[in-house]
Amino acid sequence: MINVTSLKNSRLQSTDFNNLPFGMVFSDHMLICNFKNNSWGPIQIKEYGDISISPAAQVFHYGQSVFEGMKAFKDSTNNILFFRRDENFKRINQSAKRMAIPEISSEIFYDGLNTLLKLDSEWCKSDPGFSIYIRPFIFASEPCIKASSSNEYTFMIILSPTKTYYSDPIHLLIEQEYSRSASGGVGFAKAAGNYGASFFPTNLAKKKGFTQVIWTDSKNHTNIEESGTMNIWFVIDNILVTPKLSDTILGGITRDSIIKIAIDLGLTVEERDISVDEILDSSNIGTLSEAFGTGTAVSVLPISSITFKKDKIEFNNLESIALKLKERLLSIQKGVDLNNYGWIDKLNIN
Ligand code: COI
Repeated sequence: MINVTSLKNSRLQSTDFNNLPFGMVFSDHMLICNFKNNSWGPIQIKEYGDISISPAAQVFHYGQSVFEGMKAFKDSTNNILFFRRDENFKRINQSAKRMAIPEISSEIFYDGLNTLLKLDSEWCKSDPGFSIYIRPFIFASEPCIKASSSNEYTFMIILSPTKTYYSDPIHLLIEQEYSRSASGGVGFAKAAGNYGASFFPTNLAKKKGFTQVIWTDSKNHTNIEESGTMNIWFVIDNILVTPKLSDTILGGITRDSIIKIAIDLGLTVEERDISVDEILDSSNIGTLSEAFGTGTAVSVLPISSITFKKDKIEFNNLESIALKLKERLLSIQKGVDLNNYGWIDKLNIN
């Protein structure tokens, strides 16, 4: 059951699509669904706006919250193309399980997304570079400050039209003190607190002029794990290398897509441990040719430099493998390349 209250006066006409700072512009509608008495209630879709929530809601006190980042694109016939949304559905429930949050059903997720995206399809532009960033999230909403998992939750989806995440070159600092995640923890989940905890070390790096940090393992800070909110990749001796997944690394859907695309393009891909020393050594002997990050928000993002203590590795990204991979990924996402591994779910709008 979906209750839809649609808005009379859309904000579309007053939105400047030529100026879309990432994550700050939202479409006309949002989805909301509450969990109470052990079950999820009906889906409501209504005008995007503030919600009312108790100051005692558990999410504010204990951070019990998970989210997803997914994208949809518009093809040349104006239909909405969801990219690998089955993977986001799986992952939000994996994250939810780890955070003791009740899973959501496929009906809530898919029917909710279809109805919301049909209503707000105009917010997804078909012009090159545009997509709609979809943010599903679940948080503990029971008014109770006892430190235990909540009995009430709220699931929501909001939509944000988007172009690029970063517009300037990316300079990274290898983190030597703070950690993003530890073994046995929640690093593999899209738990809100993972991101909140990353902001302090990231701000320290930003003060020194870097864009983001490269996270290393929490035990010794010798192995590379992720970069900012992205999975990280290196090209060493013409081989694509990325850290192998573990419970401290988020299994990116873009990461998985790039592995498949790269193999099909004839590249060799290795998922394995990568030490900071290996990166420094391969740079010194000239076998490290590029580095890039992947993620839903950034797609595929070439890295301009990596700094470790006094060493700075600079990359010239003119003919990069990253850009070839990005091109292929985008042509699949936009519905141009129909050899798409079954990654596209089309929603007919007309
Ligand atoms: C994404 O790439 O979707 C992410 O989760 C990054 C986000 C925190 C902006």
